[in-house]
Amino acid sequence: MIQQKEFKLSFVEYGSIEEMCPEDRELASEAIQAMSGAYAPYSHFHVGAAVRMSNSRIVRGANQENAAFPSGLCAERTAMFSASAKYPDKDMRSIAIAGGVFGRLGAEPATPCGACRQVMAQYQTKAGKPMSVIMVGAKRIWKFEKVDDILPLIFDSI
Ligand code: THU
Repeated sequence: MIQQKEFKLSFVEYGSIEEMCPEDRELASEAIQAMSGAYAPYSHFHVGAAVRMSNSRIVRGANQENAAFPSGLCAERTAMFSASAKYPDKDMRSIAIAGGVFGRLGAEPATPCGACRQVMAQYQTKAGKPMSVIMVGAKRIWKFEKVDDILPLIFDSI
C-alpha cells in the first residue's frame, strides 16, 4: 500500500543569546569567540564551534582552509576531533556553531554541512545519549535537542 509519510523536526528559536539557559549561552558565546581561530584565506567565511563534554569542559574549533581545498576542515569537525582526542573517555553533550564573512557574525544561524552532521551522529551514537546542536546567528539562534533532528535517517552501521 502506497502511503505518503513525513518527518517532523522540532527545534527552539531564541531571539538572542540572553534568552538561553546559562550553559547554552556560555557554549554559544564560546562558538562566537572560536570564530577568531578561523584560517579562511580563500572563502573569508569564519566559522567557530564549541563542544561541551560530559565533564563540563568546552573544546573549541575553527575552520582551517588549504590551497588543496579538500585538505581543509570545517570548524565543527576541528572541534569534535580535538575534543575526542583530548577527552577520549568522555561524551559530547552539545555543540554550538557560529559563522560569518570576515569574522562578523552572520544574521542567520550557521548551519552545519552534511559531513559534519554525520560526524556529530557518530559521537552521539558513541555516547548513547542525545547531543544537542545550537546554531547561532545575530538575529536568531536555533537549538535542536538531538542530531537526528538535523540528520533524518542517520546512517549507522553499528
Ligand atoms: N565551513 C565550516 O566550517 N562548517 C560548515 O559546516 C560549513 C562550512 C567552512 C568550510 C570553509 O572553510 C568555509 O566554511 C566556506 O565553506
